[in-house]
Amino acid sequence: MSRRVIGVVMNGVTGRMGYRQHLVRSILAIREQGGLALGDGEVLWPEPILVGRSERRIKRLADRHGLAHWTTSLDEALAHPLAEIYFDAQVTQAREPAIRKAIAAGKHIYTEKPTAESVEAALELARLARAAGVRNGAVQDKLFLPGLLKLKRLVDGGFFGRILSVRGEFGYWVFEGDWQSAQRPSWNYRAEDGGGMILDMFPHWQYVLEGIIAPIRSVYAHTATHIPERVDEQGRTYRATADDAAYGIFELAGGITAQINSSWAVRVDRDELVEFQVDGTEGSAVAGLRNCRFQHRAATPKPVWNPDLPVTESFRSQWQQVPDNEEFDNGFKVQWELFLKHVAAGSEYHWDLLAGAKGVQLAELGLRSAAEGRRLDVPALEI
Ligand SMILES: NC(=O)c1ccc[n+]([C@@H]2O[C@H](COP(=O)([O-])OP(=O)(O)OC[C@H]3O[C@@H](n4cnc5c(N)ncnc54)[C@H](O)[C@@H]3O)[C@@H](O)[C@H]2O)c1
Repeated sequence: MSRRVIGVVMNGVTGRMGYRQHLVRSILAIREQGGLALGDGEVLWPEPILVGRSERRIKRLADRHGLAHWTTSLDEALAHPLAEIYFDAQVTQAREPAIRKAIAAGKHIYTEKPTAESVEAALELARLARAAGVRNGAVQDKLFLPGLLKLKRLVDGGFFGRILSVRGEFGYWVFEGDWQSAQRPSWNYRAEDGGGMILDMFPHWQYVLEGIIAPIRSVYAHTATHIPERVDEQGRTYRATADDAAYGIFELAGGITAQINSSWAVRVDRDELVEFQVDGTEGSAVAGLRNCRFQHRAATPKPVWNPDLPVTESFRSQWQQVPDNEEFDNGFKVQWELFLKHVAAGSEYHWDLLAGAKGVQLAELGLRSAAEGRRLDVPALEI
């Protein structure tokens, strides 16, 4: 077996997503498993080149994991002789200029979502990457979660018959930061810093709906800032200027209606932090991050509405679990492996910057729909 080292410039690794999901659970996990076998006797060995704003923090992180390459200069990182890929998990606002630089330096691009702050900017990045001939990808991790893979298995197997509707519930209580610290960074609640529920979650709903159910034809969104004042990491009170909840209705191809509630001001009465119920003529399913339960039409009860009587059936116990039937790895890592193979061996890869731009488009249209109070069509995007 020969080992091929591939340098990955990783920007934003001191952040929540960059550190835990991308560095530790993906790139370092791939190294811990001995690299990534390419199938031709070659093993790909990702070599992180960490880049961050604070020398102290980035050096400490590199030391903690025994990593040799780190810098506070993006130019220096991109000029590193091993660097082939640029990965971005910075705050959304810092992303576009960094990716432009990396494309100009001829690096392949992999990035967190949203890929940019506007659809024009997202499309421009896709165009630039294509013109430069660099491979590119956007994180669409939810597609690789066990629960949603099981849902996709049901769709592909024809379980639902004709799909009628999707209802999604996403959210949990994010503490205000006063008597208990908030479990999400404060920029998420400031529109001027790229925060907001729609910008954060509509990119996910775009690829989940299109990738598993059907393409989105129109969007109607209603937003709210339920908690108008929060306390930041330094204990300072600030005004929440972004939406902390979004109530969306999406029309999908084939006449399917999807509605998804997303909120950071809701208490969880669900099995998982996100759940999607899909109803079809032949059966229904409820998918979360890990599990997916289903009910076939033959096992569907016939409840009769009568508020005078107590409920006699245990509806939740009438569902069956979709079995694993395979081992599921971390979704971020699975997508990283597909992207690394795409770069190193030219294998197929569908989740590129154009796909990422569709997520930004849905977020932008969602925000406009909420501001104007009307339903908007989602036009096809082309480079
Ligand atoms: N795929 C997912 O499920 C998912 C989940 C959460 C966040 N995200 C995305 O990941 C990105 C990072 O989110 P996060 O929650 O890890 O944020 P975070 O605040 O924890 O991390 C942000 C990172 O960006 C760096 N940074 C660069 N320039 C900055 C600036 N001007 N101000 C502040 N920080 C700056 C920080 O040092 C840090 O490393 C966002 O684009 C977000 O949309 C994706």
